[in-house]
Amino acid sequence: MLEVRNLDVGYYKDLNILSGLNLDVKPGQIATILGANGVGKSTSLKAIYGFLRPNGGTIRLDGQDLMDVPTHKRILKGLAYIPQHPGIFRDMSVEDNLLLGAWTFRRDTARIRERLEANYARFPILRDKRRQNTGELSGGQQRMVEIGRTLMGDPKVLLVDEPTAGLSKILAEEVYQMLRDLRDRDNLGILLVDQEIRHALRIADYVYVLELGRNKFEGPPSEFGDLQKAFWVA
Ligand SMILES: Nc1ncnc2c1ncn2[C@@H]1O[C@H](COP(=O)(O)OP(=O)(O)OP(=O)(O)O)[C@@H](O)[C@H]1O
Ligand SMILES: [Mg+2]
Repeated sequence: MLEVRNLDVGYYKDLNILSGLNLDVKPGQIATILGANGVGKSTSLKAIYGFLRPNGGTIRLDGQDLMDVPTHKRILKGLAYIPQHPGIFRDMSVEDNLLLGAWTFRRDTARIRERLEANYARFPILRDKRRQNTGELSGGQQRMVEIGRTLMGDPKVLLVDEPTAGLSKILAEEVYQMLRDLRDRDNLGILLVDQEIRHALRIADYVYVLELGRNKFEGPPSEFGDLQKAFWVA
């Protein structure tokens, strides 16, 4: 389980964007962070992944303090991150894109083979297209490659930032289904940031609403049934 307590984070010393952030991500659950543009949703994920050094607070994964652990070691401990604008290498093959997700254990060929197989079992279409340039794939398949690359590290907790931005409704549904499967079949904990409040409330098991960089509300989505309220607080 991921535990974030009293986290203060900013891009400049002594200027906090997030003040005293608290959240939990449990195995087999999707937690979502909602809030207005610029409130600090992406900043939260970047800090948990180790791209930003917090000014205070704690981040723990399965009870282990991560504050002084660099990002590449957080990956080895089970964290994965799909940023707001992930991107793939269009001129590289599907398999080479997937292999980039194995960089942190690049000398462990047995593990690489095992993770590749796991990905192809999950997304059989990627096996069929493994030698093709990724740029030739459909938008949804490219998103599969991005997610598959992240799954190479066999994460316990996935941080995912607006995974359906810019996708059609149908492709977005496919992505939400992939996230549900990761939760339900693989018991992953997922921390989802999403502009689509309706979708987030539909898929999430637990909701955090931020305002001005602080926790404003938290609870199961049933408590946010009144969308009016959800929009208002967001
Ligand atoms: N690299 C950066 N350097 C300085 N300030 C930044 C940087 N990135 C973000 N910020 C600022 O931090 C605040 C929070 O940004 P963040 O990207 O976390 O918001 P967000 O909640 O993800 O918004 P959105 O819904 O638009 O994605 C904003 O005021 C933003 O301008
Ligand atoms: Mg953002």
